[in-house]
Amino acid sequence: MSQTIVIRHAAQLLTMAGHTEQPATRLEMNELHVIENGSIIIQDGTILAVGTDEEIERKYKTLLTTAKKINATNKVVAPGLIDPHTHLVHAGTRENEYAMRLKGKSYMEIMNAGGGIHATTRATQQASFEELYDQAKRRMDTFLLNGVTTLEAKSGYGLTLKDEVKQLEVAKKLNEDHPLDLVSTFMGAHAVPIDEKDDPEKFVDRIITEMIPEVAVKKLATFNDVFCERGVFTPKQSKRILEAGKDNGLIPKIHADEIEPYGGAELAAEVGAVSADHLLKASDEGIKKMAEKNVIGVLLPGTAFFLMAEFAQARKMIDYGVPVALSTDANPGSSPTLSLQFIMNLGCLKMEMTPEEVITATTINAAHAIGCSETIGSLEIGKKGDLTIFDVPNYLTLSYQYGMNHVDTVIKSGVPVVVGQQLQE
Ligand code: NIG
Ligand code: FE
Repeated sequence: MSQTIVIRHAAQLLTMAGHTEQPATRLEMNELHVIENGSIIIQDGTILAVGTDEEIERKYKTLLTTAKKINATNKVVAPGLIDPHTHLVHAGTRENEYAMRLKGKSYMEIMNAGGGIHATTRATQQASFEELYDQAKRRMDTFLLNGVTTLEAKSGYGLTLKDEVKQLEVAKKLNEDHPLDLVSTFMGAHAVPIDEKDDPEKFVDRIITEMIPEVAVKKLATFNDVFCERGVFTPKQSKRILEAGKDNGLIPKIHADEIEPYGGAELAAEVGAVSADHLLKASDEGIKKMAEKNVIGVLLPGTAFFLMAEFAQARKMIDYGVPVALSTDANPGSSPTLSLQFIMNLGCLKMEMTPEEVITATTINAAHAIGCSETIGSLEIGKKGDLTIFDVPNYLTLSYQYGMNHVDTVIKSGVPVVVGQQLQE
């Protein structure tokens, strides 16, 4: 059981209150519910009280005499950041492809020639459980140092039952061992293996009849994701895979309309996906349908930046009423970054989101995108004591001083896990 802890004198405490039931949309995304000169008490890993310094001092005088105190003077206290879309568990890097792309080769050309996702799949298949574990653990440490307290992690570099399960079991073990929380997604439909290119339906059948049931029985994932893209999985194949996931209790997510408009946003609304992710090329019709069905748009501007592509139309999506979340898409091919703060910067500078919207998109809306809004995403009584203290005098500075790590302290379930930018063992 962790010691009672009180964080006091925050210049701004961003509570993000009021959106546990439904994600924030439209103008709600600008409401951070800021408490100036704020305090928060965490007891047994859970938030006990939130208020101004005076209120907390008055109501909890006795408790405060024994609580561990953290001084947040001149700092911003926010919910621990949540990254709702990563490809955390994989082996190796692809800087050679980056160099090729800088010379003009496209992402899909490289993939179709056997590189891209296939290259990381080969490396991941060859890697042992321990190698995958060590590489992913280091990435998690970096995420934590950068203020992220919960991550979604996808499989999808195994592409055989054995190797998909291996990836998901690594994620499960890391979730048990590491302070950061992981939520897992099965993504066997990330690519059709090269040697099965001529008969993709056979691979789709195997995902449906072998992989999904096994992942579900072993309780290795909450979500089921598909790369719905021309040359990868068609909308029809994607639908079959997502419906099969639903039959086995897995909630649908989609990599939608990343490279071309392909009906991915529309499909997300049709199958009742919790989120459609990427959406660089989503159609107006698709965006409208997502808004109607409250499908979260998980935008990944790091991918557009790194692939030198057009950015998703965040402004239009928010104005149409789509609840928007932001994520790194951390992966070795299209977005090799572990900095969600940089993604927030890109949200403002490249997608015309407001500094308030990008905070909503990486806290409470991100929590909804991974089905965790009951326990995380805002600083409200009864939620987990997950928070990040940024060494900035106000939240605007987070997106103004860009490309930097502003994190000073991270508290996970009431335990300081990063202090003064250092991981605590
Ligand atoms: O989200 N688009 C498909 N999947 C990943 C990239 C994976 C890779 O290139 O290794 C994405 O961009
Ligand atoms: Fe992705």
